[in-house]
Amino acid sequence: RRRKHDRRQRLLEGCVRVPLVPGHYEPNIVFYRYGGYVFPEQIVLSGVLQELPNFQARETDVIVASFPKTGTTWVQEIVYMLTHDCRSSTDDDATLETRFPYLEYPYPGLKTVAATPGPRCIKTHLPYHLLPPSVTTAGAKVVYVTRNPRDTVVSYYHFARLLTSAGFIGTLDDFIDDFLDEKVPYSPFLSHVREYRAAAAAASHDSLLCVSYEQLTADPKGVVRAIAKHLNVAVSEEDVQFVVDHTSFSAMSNNKSVNYEHWKDIGFAHKDRGNFLRKGKIGDWETSLNVEQKARFASWEARNLRPDDAPF
Ligand code: A3P
Repeated sequence: RRRKHDRRQRLLEGCVRVPLVPGHYEPNIVFYRYGGYVFPEQIVLSGVLQELPNFQARETDVIVASFPKTGTTWVQEIVYMLTHDCRSSTDDDATLETRFPYLEYPYPGLKTVAATPGPRCIKTHLPYHLLPPSVTTAGAKVVYVTRNPRDTVVSYYHFARLLTSAGFIGTLDDFIDDFLDEKVPYSPFLSHVREYRAAAAAASHDSLLCVSYEQLTADPKGVVRAIAKHLNVAVSEEDVQFVVDHTSFSAMSNNKSVNYEHWKDIGFAHKDRGNFLRKGKIGDWETSLNVEQKARFASWEARNLRPDDAPF
């Protein structure tokens, strides 16, 4: 018992418990702030935060990084196709979680990711400064995706309701409060984006490409071409068109290897609260947020956006 207690204390080193608002989450939900960012207890107690610095990235790895709900899955599938001969995954038995594991999540776990042979596709929501240092030293390719924060918060709220383990029981209004108060997992949003944008702008850094959900929507072919170039993958115009078609919202919604519908069968997602691939639109916030919520966002931006922040 004592050993268990000591281990827990070790894992919680450097963590500060986030005070959650009663009524927003089920009572068993606990978040910690570590390295300036919020992590669910499940991630902290898995020990992964202590193990990450020793993770060995490879030059051949491709990492898709993001703040949650900004288009991660979309970019993952594009990257997966580009690194696999532009093949469609429609008939793949393996789901995206298996083909493209989540670095800091306890399943399949860092040891499994580390033991995966060959070039790996890896997803992460870690902020840039918590990435394993070997990502930079080995020269692994990173693609970071971001999205307008208002659309991100609407998408995140629906996701927090969909996921059984999220334990979120509040309203959209509560979720917006938590997002703006930097209490949702992986927040603060603006610092997350800034860290990656700053790293990408650093002169020596050609292994990090930043794209946005809005660019992907406006010019999917252009973004697919940019990602292919970043990954040094030669693609024809037909390849680009094929990737764009197979990663459209409707194609991905109907593709069981990327739509996360199986989460409903294994109890990860509620069956009656919509789909992971929900709307796939830009500007959904305009109809989802009320006048007061829009004003709260505007005032948050006025207080927090810096003149040198690139627009979303
Ligand atoms: P919405 O909830 O606004 O629909 P992430 O993968 O980072 O969790 O982001 C999920 C968001 O990206 C969801 O947004 C989802 O519908 C959207 N998305 C996923 N694949 C997409 C695609 N191919 N085209 C457009 N949007 C997509």
